[in-house]
Amino acid sequence: MLAVDHGYFLGPIRGLENPRRTINPLLPYVDAVMLTRGILRTSIDPETDVPVVLRVSGGNTIDGPVLGNEEIVTAVDDAIRLNVSALAFSIYVGTEFEHQTLKALARLVDAGERYGIPILAVTAVGRELEKRTAKYIGLACRVAAELGAHFIKTYYTEDFHRVVDSVPVPLVIAGGPKLETDLDVLQLAYNAVSEGAAGIDFGRNVFQNPNPIGMIKALRGIVHEGLTPNEALELLKPEKIKA
Ligand code: R5P
Repeated sequence: MLAVDHGYFLGPIRGLENPRRTINPLLPYVDAVMLTRGILRTSIDPETDVPVVLRVSGGNTIDGPVLGNEEIVTAVDDAIRLNVSALAFSIYVGTEFEHQTLKALARLVDAGERYGIPILAVTAVGRELEKRTAKYIGLACRVAAELGAHFIKTYYTEDFHRVVDSVPVPLVIAGGPKLETDLDVLQLAYNAVSEGAAGIDFGRNVFQNPNPIGMIKALRGIVHEGLTPNEALELLKPEKIKA
């Protein structure tokens, strides 16, 4: 999955200033794209057949008092009209918004079940990246699964295989802030998939890479063809993105 939903609270971050220009050249290489309805409506060719995972949580920004104060901001009716394949909602376990976001996730699962739309729970940590321990990730993912999430986006952590073992739904891994080297990005994907992640949902480490098409191809090679990080690195040959 390609994650390009960041603007819902971060605004025009580096690499996603012009969503259409960034996203469209990458679509041929992804299995699904994760974004908001505003970007889907304005920036994606309606004829594209790439499955859409629609982010339906929001209501705060990086400039606001605190991250995590999110609610469901998109009606399921509109998601159906937009013909999306799944809905994504962030939960903020261990914060003052834990109760609010967990209840909203459960309501979304109810709505999704009514129409046969799977729900992706996103275990968000806001600014507190250091929270991404096996204990925390294990708790957040298990709670999301218990509430009915059909798959979960989370972070790779030490002892990740234990998290996988204790969560009975597929896990996909976020990339997080841009890593230092291409090999670091590929190694992260490789480790996650080797330890049982069903896939990845990377954003910044793809679209902030000087060679995003090369990077998405390399990541695809790891997830779908079982390439090692060094083998995948070979696919990072420079390619120009058309405007
Ligand atoms: C946060 O903005 C979104 O949930 C992203 O979809 C998620 O963090 C994955 O993107 P990245 O790989 O950039 O962390």
